Amino acid sequence: MKKLVVFYSLEGNTKYIAQAIAEEIAADLLELKAVKEINKKSLFRFLHGGKQAIRKEQPELLPLDKDPQDYDLIILGTPVWAWTYSAPLHTFLCQNKIENKKIAFFCCHGGDKGKTLQHLENILKDNKILGKSDYFNPLKKDPEQNRKKAVEWAKGITISAQN
Ligand SMILES: Cc1cc2nc3c(=O)[nH]c(=O)nc-3n(C[C@H](O)[C@H](O)[C@H](O)COP(=O)(O)O)c2cc1C
Repeated sequence: MKKLVVFYSLEGNTKYIAQAIAEEIAADLLELKAVKEINKKSLFRFLHGGKQAIRKEQPELLPLDKDPQDYDLIILGTPVWAWTYSAPLHTFLCQNKIENKKIAFFCCHGGDKGKTLQHLENILKDNKILGKSDYFNPLKKDPEQNRKKAVEWAKGITISAQN
């Protein structure tokens, strides 16, 4: 079974979880990058990214170095932006028809994930959804505990994916 972890991360939290998962389950990693990245040091990043997410904008992505269609199990990771998934992940989901795959997804947030996981479930409804998970600013709060949580979750997902 070919496994892929697709993620976007502005400030590193989602990347940290995605890398831990990919390492544990021997999955390939696909990091999404916007052509015009938001300045993560700017105080306006909430405004810029929040506006993109609320307006369902599709910021242009750098070319992908993996084709999601080559994979059986896809795990998606995103930060929460304005109570939903990030705009670069939205671009990816609009430009790559993900269907009939085994899917799991997770988000990283700052304490209020809103309906992010529900929104992902809706847009990925033509797939077999095996699980969802979320992490509260894992790099700041408790990196090791969050890493363990993610790794255990991902191991469970791969077992379900084999059945
Ligand atoms: C544009 C923007 C919007 C955000 N909106 C929310 C939000 O609605 N709810 C929340 O709990 N955290 C929100 N956050 C915080 C991030 O979701 C959180 O810090 C996450 O761990 C960042 O992941 P990353 O490091 O992979 O980018 C927002 C952050 C940004 C930059």
